[in-house]
Amino acid sequence: MLFPDYRPRRLRRTEAFRSMIRETRLSVKDLILPLFAIGGKDIRNPIESMPGQYQLSLDHLAQTAREAEAAGIPAVILFGIPETKDAQGSRAWASDGIVQRAVSAVKEAAPDLAVITDVCLCQYTDHGHCGVVAEDRHIDNDATLDLLARTALSHAEAGADMVAPSDMMDGRVAAIREALDEDGFEHVSIMAYSAKYCSAYYGPFRSAADSAPQFGDRRTYQMDPANGREAVREAGMDMEEGADVLMVKPALAYLDIIYRIRQEFDLPVAAYNVSGEYSLIQAADRLGWIDGERVMMETLTAIKRAGADMILTYFALDAARVLNA
Ligand code: PBG
Ligand code: ZN
Repeated sequence: MLFPDYRPRRLRRTEAFRSMIRETRLSVKDLILPLFAIGGKDIRNPIESMPGQYQLSLDHLAQTAREAEAAGIPAVILFGIPETKDAQGSRAWASDGIVQRAVSAVKEAAPDLAVITDVCLCQYTDHGHCGVVAEDRHIDNDATLDLLARTALSHAEAGADMVAPSDMMDGRVAAIREALDEDGFEHVSIMAYSAKYCSAYYGPFRSAADSAPQFGDRRTYQMDPANGREAVREAGMDMEEGADVLMVKPALAYLDIIYRIRQEFDLPVAAYNVSGEYSLIQAADRLGWIDGERVMMETLTAIKRAGADMILTYFALDAARVLNA
């Protein structure tokens, strides 16, 4: 043995040493706060399965955006709960749609905050699927691309800095990039939900955003949780189609995927610490079974250690409070 007397504990003796050898430092600048926008005024509907999270009318949304900006959080990602739904999801690309108005509200309230929008149809379709449903009930990939491109374009027109397609249709990054470029939005970036798994961890989000599929499931477009190599392939395709950031989602059960994508590609990598991951920690904390704050910080640090440059997390404001203390 080379160092028979080597004792790792020597450098764990004091906080001074521990902080000197710390390999991963979570920063407020790594965090992206997801927000749910809803119509109306003075609305702050608590999301039951996600304690501490709300559906916010634009006045409250603006207030929360200001808080995020003041805390040093660099970005928010916006989801909308529309007043009406239809088969196509037409409120997804309406210029006076909920997300479009939310973008302006956030931009006005917190001009330094980067505004990202989730691009998908499932909150806007009456069937709850992320794409166009064909007569035989399969999800029509290519018919969906045009609607996604229109949605992304409408977000850019409203002032979004980055669009994040979460639908998992093949070819959507290219379709969106092309639509943005054609209309003079070359400066708007794309964060691709590249490796988005068909996960039960999205459960609380679907009640928050009222976006659960009304028949079937998302297995024909979202990825099988058993697959790793396929995630690398998906990410490579998104990169070639023009994605600026590659995302892995969920995060915690997929740390190996974050790690692999970090190793394979030079693009920035994002990880989505999804609703169910948030709810698990909140629930156990509420039961007194774990120290929720410590588990939160350990979790976010682990996601960063695995290779994420940025983390979308409902904990963003809570973690910022800890980090800024
Ligand atoms: C919409 C979308 C979902 C999430 C982000 N965008 C739900 C889904 O695909 O079912 C999940 C976010 C979360 O669980 O926190 N496609
Ligand atoms: Zn969707």
